[in-house]
Amino acid sequence: MSVKAVLLGAGKGTRMKSDLAKVLHEAAGRPLINWMLEIVSQAGVEEVVVVVGHQAEDVAAVLPPGTRTALQAEQLGTGHAARVGFEVLAPAGDDIVLVLPGDMPLVRHETLEHLVELHRGTGAAATLLSCEPADPTGYGRILRGADRHVLGIVEQRDATPAQLAIREVGTSVYAFSAEVLGEALATLSNHNSQGEYYLTDVIGTLADAGRRVEALIADAIEGEGVNSHDQLAAAATELRRRINTAWMRAGVWMQDPDRTYVDAGVVLEPGARLYADTHLEGATTVAAGAEVGPSTYARDSRIGPGSRVWYSVLRQADVGASAEVGPYVSLRPGATLLERSKAGTFVEIKNSEVGAGSKVPHLSYIGDTTIGEGSNVGAGTITVNYDGYAKHRTVIGDGVKIGSDTMLVAPVTVGDEAWTAAGSVITKDIPAGALGVARSPQKEVPGYAARRRARAEQERT
Ligand code: UD1
Ligand code: CA
Repeated sequence: MSVKAVLLGAGKGTRMKSDLAKVLHEAAGRPLINWMLEIVSQAGVEEVVVVVGHQAEDVAAVLPPGTRTALQAEQLGTGHAARVGFEVLAPAGDDIVLVLPGDMPLVRHETLEHLVELHRGTGAAATLLSCEPADPTGYGRILRGADRHVLGIVEQRDATPAQLAIREVGTSVYAFSAEVLGEALATLSNHNSQGEYYLTDVIGTLADAGRRVEALIADAIEGEGVNSHDQLAAAATELRRRINTAWMRAGVWMQDPDRTYVDAGVVLEPGARLYADTHLEGATTVAAGAEVGPSTYARDSRIGPGSRVWYSVLRQADVGASAEVGPYVSLRPGATLLERSKAGTFVEIKNSEVGAGSKVPHLSYIGDTTIGEGSNVGAGTITVNYDGYAKHRTVIGDGVKIGSDTMLVAPVTVGDEAWTAAGSVITKDIPAGALGVARSPQKEVPGYAARRRARAEQERT
């Protein structure tokens, strides 16, 4: 007897008013369907089948490799979807089958474990998860008899005014004994206002047949489904709150957790410090002692120990130990800053390595470049990496002093300890230790100001 699950993810999600299938919408950096899979696996479920239908290929593509799917070619309702999933799952008669919607990412795995325990303990045919939200609008209402036994579930649009006043609603999460579920799904009909096969009808069918139906009442927040963008935002806020709470308990400092956006896949070390308006996405990592923010966006980037990154944007960048980034830096894919290096105000770096202790402090573009150790790149320097057709590399050695406003026209190499004169357009390699000067010599025009003033006065009269 094992616990298996069917996840329903074939619906279009009409109320999202979106081109994207509902379960592909992301909350805290993870598609809804992946949240559900994660929760189900944390609950110790041994086998899962995901029912796909609307945008089936796209939904299947985000699932972890090896996830089993069942195709519901036509979306005929949750009951029909459950049947399609059940057939692929093919559980043994005494297995417990959990059925869950694809749009309920706030349910906790502990709650699913309790549901299974209750189901096992009571020997019920079905055990449903319900809750009592402040506003039950839109959910199926739980019908109970005088003795409080569950009699069935009635959908909002099929309910009488008296039934609409019921506060307890179904979450669309159930534990069934496999044999019972198989039989009940086979007898479902679509005689309702939507002409759909409702999974909720299984409960009424079982109760009518005198089978025991139990219910576990969860916290209202766990039962919140995502049917529209406002509900998606509410779910994302709660998921972020949980993520931030877990990181703070693990030793991460947050200036303002309500304004700190950490995706599900991000990894933080204890001792990392996050200031307000920090967005960490994808596979970003932040090491101990690093300070990030305020106002920083990092995606798929590594932020090393003791580094400082503020008011900046990082994409696939690697910031080394004790490096400094910002304010107002753009690190694009392949930007690697080694230990103690610096990218300062209004600097853009792409596909380049800045060596240990080297600095690019102000107003520069560094692309397709290797900078050695202990070099300084003067304000306004640009690596001219693109000739209109192809990209070329710039190589700057160790201990180099690039003068302000140098144009380094690639491909070009500046040797160790070499200098460039401010304002130079460097088109040829500079040997180690040499100064490269490439600018027009200055000349003075004596008395120019007075003559210019006289001309202006003449023109005015
Ligand atoms: C459903 C329940 C309702 C419950 C609510 C809880 C039914 C009939 N209604 O309503 O009682 O209160 O969830 O949130 O079950 N799906 C398919 N194939 C289909 C239709 C839906 O796979 O043909 C999937 C959807 O992708 C979704 C899930 O089933 O993940 C639930 O569908 P949804 O349309 O969101 O149901 P609700 O109207 O919210
Ligand atoms: Ca729903």
